[in-house]
Amino acid sequence: MADGDDATPTPLPGATTHFGNQTVAEGEKAGMVHGVFSNVASKYDVMNDVMSMGIHRLWKDAMMDWLAPHDGQRLLDVAGGTGDIAFRFLDRAPGATAVVCDMTEAMLVEGQKRAEAEALSGSLDWVVGDAMALPFEDRVFDVYTISFGIRNVTRIEDALSEAFRVLAPGGRLMVLEFSQIPNDLMQRVYDLYSFNVIPRMGQVIANDRDSYQYLVESIRQFPDQERFADMIRTAGFEQVAYRNLSMGIAALHSGWKI
Ligand SMILES: C[S@@+](CC[C@H](N)C(=O)[O-])C[C@H]1O[C@@H](n2cnc3c(N)ncnc32)[C@H](O)[C@@H]1O
Repeated sequence: MADGDDATPTPLPGATTHFGNQTVAEGEKAGMVHGVFSNVASKYDVMNDVMSMGIHRLWKDAMMDWLAPHDGQRLLDVAGGTGDIAFRFLDRAPGATAVVCDMTEAMLVEGQKRAEAEALSGSLDWVVGDAMALPFEDRVFDVYTISFGIRNVTRIEDALSEAFRVLAPGGRLMVLEFSQIPNDLMQRVYDLYSFNVIPRMGQVIANDRDSYQYLVESIRQFPDQERFADMIRTAGFEQVAYRNLSMGIAALHSGWKI
């Protein structure tokens, strides 16, 4: 596995950010997020299926339907974890290439153990790197994806501007992330499920309640669909659009580097 340049940006002195519901110094967050994903890596795939009752698979398939991968494209999947997005992309476009980049090596190691990884080894690379300081040249990818990753990044604006930098002109960004349900009652029902059930499942299945408590809190801190679309426009992307998934529990955002 390639180890990207250690170019993690220096945090601004005194700046704070969210770590779930806690306010922490910007410089502390990446280490805490890294701790969460190092802890959950070996149980990540099974927990994803259990917590979402398999629905994350449908959302990732919906991402592929909108992206419509084709042969020859160069995909960069940031915060790619155990490879779900890259595997799906290459399944639909066997003549494409993909790089999975993630700051938590343990997640990439789990991905490399998956059956698909060996079969795709000729077209798939795994790189340790930070979304806020990607270890890649300018304009070298056609598609940039980030799935359930961007809400964990300390400075979302920096990650979006890095996405813009590494995409070639005509390239496309697509983000899959938890979002906000526009209906208050439904949002409250969903909050009850996520705050009460998911940390307990984390305790039982992965023996790690705290990591899953962080995951549900971080979902509620993430900007809603419109605000996030504005952030994508501010990073320079055009034709920005989004689609709600499962009533807005998650959303796909798309933008183009024209
Ligand atoms: C919830 S997992 C998502 C994994 C995969 N994309 C998926 O959809 O199943 C979030 C991933 O984001 C990664 N991550 C968090 N902050 C990151 C950053 N600043 N740069 C790169 N990866 C990051 C974590 O290490 C973790 O693997």
